[in-house]
Amino acid sequence: MMRSIKVLFMLTLAVILLAACGGAAPAATEAPAEEAMEAETAAPAAKTYADLTLCYPQLGAESDWRTANSASIKQTAEDLGFNLIFSDAQQKQENQISAMRACIQQGVDVIALPPVVEDGWDAVLTEAKNAGIPVIIVDRSVSADQSLYAAHIGSDMHLEGERAAEEFNNKFPEGAQILELSGTTGSGAAVGRAEGFRSVLDDNIEILDSQTGNFTRAEALPVMQAFLQKYEPGTDFQGIFIHNDDMGIGAIEALKAAGVEPGDLFIVSVDGTRGGFQAMIDGWFQADVECNPLLGPQVAEMALALANGETIDREVLTNETVYYPDQAAELLPSRQY
Ligand code: AHR
Repeated sequence: MMRSIKVLFMLTLAVILLAACGGAAPAATEAPAEEAMEAETAAPAAKTYADLTLCYPQLGAESDWRTANSASIKQTAEDLGFNLIFSDAQQKQENQISAMRACIQQGVDVIALPPVVEDGWDAVLTEAKNAGIPVIIVDRSVSADQSLYAAHIGSDMHLEGERAAEEFNNKFPEGAQILELSGTTGSGAAVGRAEGFRSVLDDNIEILDSQTGNFTRAEALPVMQAFLQKYEPGTDFQGIFIHNDDMGIGAIEALKAAGVEPGDLFIVSVDGTRGGFQAMIDGWFQADVECNPLLGPQVAEMALALANGETIDREVLTNETVYYPDQAAELLPSRQY
């Protein structure tokens, strides 16, 4: 009996010693080696908004739409906590290019560019690409090769023009003569709206004259005054297609001064700002084609994805509609811009 207890004790001791020396040892030496390998191959930690610097060389402050667009990007930066480098180019492409170059020098993570005009971006977009900084084109389009920028977020300006034309087609099945107050010459917004408008406008509706008001109230006023010197409202023309609400408000000033009454002319504008809604309530605009400026959240989300090397959609178009006077009073209080 005593002998078998001794044998059992020896056996148990042997097992314990084996486990302590033989069994545990390899595991203890293997673990650090695996960790070291993992550390070597692991991807760098994903960037968060707190690590992100976004450059936004805004094109100007020409309209209520633009003010809302700037506010949207600034508010988004505040809400999400990323670093925003914002500038105002005062509608000058050379200022936007200088602002972009300064951002490239600073080594920002992403540039989001709302281009004032379509052409002339190739050089600076190439510089950003060579510096490894992705560029999101925001709002208006550029004519540069798609390989020079990461994506575009904004409105379908061509569709906006088409929607405006449908309003004139419905209003004037027998034909009419109309005027056009166009946006900034060479801008994606003005080019797209003008082309879309002409692509759908019925043949019996003639565009008598088209002049730019540069998307501002101040410049639209004298253009409308000059139109009224040349053409008799109601006789020579029955309607006006106006590329944005601010120019529409400038044009209304001129029309009022010339004795034109709300409803004498069929006026279709673009944007859907509070000013546009008020013009519908007052009877001046018969339709307002929506163009949404509240792009901040989408731009930020895409910028972070790009900074983390994720795949993104190259073309993100905003879902928009057309507003009419009968909804205007009800919707105006909830308009955000
Ligand atoms: O590019 C968007 C256009 O630019 C808006 O219609 C206009 O109001 C703004 O100035």
